[in-house]
Amino acid sequence: MIKIEKLTKTFGSIKAVDDISLEIFKGESLGLVGESGSGKSTLARLILGLIKQDNGEIKGIAKRDCQIVFQDPQTSLNPRIKIGEAIAEPMLIREMFPKEEIAGRVEKLLGLVMLNKEFANHYPHELSGGERQRVGIARALSSNPKFLILDEPVSSLDVSTQVEILKLLKNIKQKLDLTYLFIAHDLLIINYMCDRIAVMKAGKILEIGTKEQIIHNPQRPYTKLLLSSSV
Ligand SMILES: Nc1ncnc2c1ncn2[C@@H]1O[C@H](COP(=O)(O)OP(=O)(O)O)[C@@H](O)[C@H]1O
Ligand SMILES: [Mg+2]
Repeated sequence: MIKIEKLTKTFGSIKAVDDISLEIFKGESLGLVGESGSGKSTLARLILGLIKQDNGEIKGIAKRDCQIVFQDPQTSLNPRIKIGEAIAEPMLIREMFPKEEIAGRVEKLLGLVMLNKEFANHYPHELSGGERQRVGIARALSSNPKFLILDEPVSSLDVSTQVEILKLLKNIKQKLDLTYLFIAHDLLIINYMCDRIAVMKAGKILEIGTKEQIIHNPQRPYTKLLLSSSV
């Protein structure tokens, strides 16, 4: 579905993404794991076209078919905009549906993330962290993407809410036939969510393989270190 070739992005002297080549297959959930500062979010922003690479190519998918769910729905939602409008915005920008269908579509998206339709009239501060992240997911799905990047989507939530959101994301992936790039620094979460895992460090993919290969037979010392620190 996506073919990344020799992708590089530097910020001054920092090689945030350093000559990465990677394929993401249709229907899979690819986990991207690595410590803070390893370049995961930069790779995500490059795929989405939010920033421009210095070198390399991203092939196989149109930008309009990609969307992202951010770690912190608190900062990604405008406090002055009602939930319903926030969810409607991506489809309005793309003029995907006639105006009279928008309200019904918002209601459907709220249902998909298991929120009551009443939430459309609420403001972000009236919601819990978990509810806000459900809104973040509904908003990402608003423009009917085929490919979703989840950038640490549960890192700011408490453990029981994390489990709920992860289950929801699994369920939605299957229902809508989506492809995921799932970013996390926690291998336990990646293990639950993903089919394949890529291990990233200092802008490079150190190791990539099936979940079985990476979790049960890691080749790189760094992967072993990540594993030992997450169990
Ligand atoms: N806009 C930016 N300007 C300067 N440096 C940046 C910018 N974005 C990211 N970086 C740097 O690039 C590196 C990778 O960051 P990031 O992709 O956010 O890592 P991760 O998501 O894995 O924590 C870090 O050293 C970070 O400080
Ligand atoms: Mg990040």
